[in-house]
Amino acid sequence: MTKSLDKIVSLAKRRGFVFSGSEIYGGLQGFYDYGPLGVELKNNLKALWWKWMTKDHDNIVGIDGAIITNPKVWEASGHLKSFVDPLVECKKCHRRFKADDIPGDKCPDCGGELTAPKVFNILVPTELGVIEGEKLKAYLRGEACQTIYLNYKNVLDSTRLKIPFGVCQIGKAFRNEVTPGNFLFRQREFEQWDLQWFCHPSEMEKWFEFWKEERMNWYKSIFTHPENLGFYEHEKLAHYAKKAFDINYEASPIGKEMEGIHWRGDWDLAGHSKFSGVDLNYTDPETKENYTPNIVETSGGVDRTFMFLLVDAYEEEGDRIILKLNPRLAPYKVAIFPLLANKPQLVEKAKAVYDNLKGEMAVAWDDRGNIGKRYYSQDEIGTPYCITIDFDTLENDTVTVRDRDTATQQRVAISELTAFLRAGINL
Ligand code: GAP
Repeated sequence: MTKSLDKIVSLAKRRGFVFSGSEIYGGLQGFYDYGPLGVELKNNLKALWWKWMTKDHDNIVGIDGAIITNPKVWEASGHLKSFVDPLVECKKCHRRFKADDIPGDKCPDCGGELTAPKVFNILVPTELGVIEGEKLKAYLRGEACQTIYLNYKNVLDSTRLKIPFGVCQIGKAFRNEVTPGNFLFRQREFEQWDLQWFCHPSEMEKWFEFWKEERMNWYKSIFTHPENLGFYEHEKLAHYAKKAFDINYEASPIGKEMEGIHWRGDWDLAGHSKFSGVDLNYTDPETKENYTPNIVETSGGVDRTFMFLLVDAYEEEGDRIILKLNPRLAPYKVAIFPLLANKPQLVEKAKAVYDNLKGEMAVAWDDRGNIGKRYYSQDEIGTPYCITIDFDTLENDTVTVRDRDTATQQRVAISELTAFLRAGINL
């Protein structure tokens, strides 16, 4: 069943996951800010990706490159020429549309006549320097991965890596999207997580298949309903790719693409060698063969993944909303409630449990209203466990632990709480 995006956007705002950018000024299309819970979820997500890439795999290291590069990069990469959308403009209301999105030859808003398509580059330009007339025109990076190619040789020279190896990065990218919208799906500023895997040209097929499956398995491990994920093979390819598959979130109410697996071949290193004059070829230390390394890229959208995770986890049971997020991603792992806020003994005992767990995991505190409302409030933000400190706790040092997904409750000894929660959350 496809879920309504409106409900998720509204929950995201109400509970502090995601806000529209510059809201008090009427917003700015294609820009969003992450709120207190959103930043926790996003950081958990990125930490999981980073660990999986760099610690759970051999021969992958990370970098964190600059957003602005020498503008020649975008010439060499082909983006100045090919990172374009054909646009048509209405002669009457002057609105612009992607030519590919318009079925007929009339403006979909006012019925006016449309101009012939004009090509529009979606790189975001900026200017560096202070003296008018002497400013350098540069670009905010249109795809984060370019800084990996720029540092390919630095990484090789500063480590003991040999081909095949990978360099990964999480970082911002900027695109002057003509039709930003659909919440986090099409933004003008967004974050990408990339792996660039450098290998021998004869091994491209093997590594392409390997990373395609490996990345899908990773997404399956973090989604609540892995059956909602699927592949899509591109027929229309980006200028740098010879073959491309998307990992899609199939149950999306809007666009589906979450990550691209791209056969980039020698496009990038050959291009940068040519334009920079620096030899980026590789000499095999054993065979002495000299060649241009080929690249398999896995390039995903952090924000899109974030949004699809919310969609996937969102459930309603009567008037109750439950965000069945993977516990490892949940902003809070556990919430602590003193049964009654006006009984100092309960509050003191609950505070001790809270302080004890705080060093281990993200813990929330709630002593407002009744216990039922507190459960609802934590369910909505995906907290996997709620712990109530009641009068029995004062007698026997046990607490009630309530599970988000099943709403079942059990008594657990305070001395065993950390181990119990760690096992349940898979920390
Ligand atoms: N380096 C290759 C590259 O950038 P891409 O398919 O254009 O490939 C990779 O982008 C991923 O970045 C997409 O699968 C998507 O998740 C994310 N992405 C692309 N454009 C986006 C946008 N305007 N807003 C949010 N995410 C976007």
